[in-house]
Amino acid sequence: MKSPIELYLADRINSQNEIPFSEFMEISLYHKDYGYYTSKKQIFGKNGDFITSPINSSLFGESISNEFINLKLNIDKDLNIMEMGGGDASLAIDLLKNLKIKKCLPSKYIILEISDSLIKLQKDNIKKSIPDLYCLFEWSNSLEDTSMDGLIIANEFFDALPTERFKVIDNNIECLFIGIDGDSYKHVWNSAPPNFIKELELAKNNHEIYFKNHYISEINLHYKKWLKSLDKVLNSGVIFLIDYGYNSKEYFLEDRNEGTLVCVHNHQPNFDPMMNIGEQDLSSFVNFSHLNNICLSTKLDIAGYLIQSNFLINLGILDLFQSKKMSENEKLDELNRLKNILLPNTMGEIFKVLVMKKNIDIPLLSTKEFNHIHKL
Ligand SMILES: C[S@@+](CC[C@H](N)C(=O)[O-])C[C@H]1O[C@@H](n2cnc3c(N)ncnc32)[C@H](O)[C@@H]1O
Repeated sequence: MKSPIELYLADRINSQNEIPFSEFMEISLYHKDYGYYTSKKQIFGKNGDFITSPINSSLFGESISNEFINLKLNIDKDLNIMEMGGGDASLAIDLLKNLKIKKCLPSKYIILEISDSLIKLQKDNIKKSIPDLYCLFEWSNSLEDTSMDGLIIANEFFDALPTERFKVIDNNIECLFIGIDGDSYKHVWNSAPPNFIKELELAKNNHEIYFKNHYISEINLHYKKWLKSLDKVLNSGVIFLIDYGYNSKEYFLEDRNEGTLVCVHNHQPNFDPMMNIGEQDLSSFVNFSHLNNICLSTKLDIAGYLIQSNFLINLGILDLFQSKKMSENEKLDELNRLKNILLPNTMGEIFKVLVMKKNIDIPLLSTKEFNHIHKL
């Protein structure tokens, strides 16, 4: 018996013969009634499918709040914070708790969120943890009509944008489409249109990259739309784009010949997006060189490219840890959580941060050392 999301997919595919992989991913994750992010009861945490950095340790959000304080001290304007994809609101809660203590609250905290069930979870968690700050929050499901100065944070947002997959066959590029054959899905590879080839060049960002025959990878055609919207939304301030990913040289590494798409269910990774449809997360690593190249045609300046651990150290995470009043047991727990977001074999190195700024000219805390912008 097919699930409602599979029946919907079958209808959609049958009406068009085949759909681009990105459309399959969009439906799997965001179909308004049956998508993973819109309908799954427990996504985050031990009993869900995965844990993100802000959920792992409150020091993540607290560190990020230090850059907001830096902006507030140096910019004489009404400053807001916007978070793209609010998850379970851990980041919002930790940031604002710290900003309240430092008497440096933003005028508004906007959460961009597509999922009504996650908006409900975020509202519940905020009301429970920081009821006095609930009035600062606004929710939106699109960037249209938003305009702000301040700080924009996208943690694990860009990896969740529906991606295209491509394969190289005899030096030609083919794009993946999903069709149906009887009761099963089938992969259909169609010649890539000229705009796709152009985008692939942009994604390589002038790195010398050679694809072997049968090489498979991803390219995300949504990046452009989102960066252009961010450019419109932000009058002045800083954007932190935090995600697991690489520069294009590492992204299109010869040995990474199956691409970067990964599915997660019950904390277990797999590489079959046709499994557990609507019940498992799908994401692809972020190509930071591609984002950098797109930014060149916007008013957003790239201010930094760092591994997550260096970014958090610049923002003072180690001092925050030292200064916390905790019992020995609590300290040990916090240290273990810290290791998960700082150590190279965990999220510390595979996660990168692209720091963008617009219409500001002040030294940023987040990029003060270890800036590897030249690697983009
Ligand atoms: C992987 S989760 C990360 C959540 C959170 N930032 C964190 O780090 O814990 C992705 C988040 O982005 C949201 N999201 C994805 N695509 C979106 C879109 N197009 N518009 C608004 N929210 C979106 C999801 O619903 C979810 O809250």
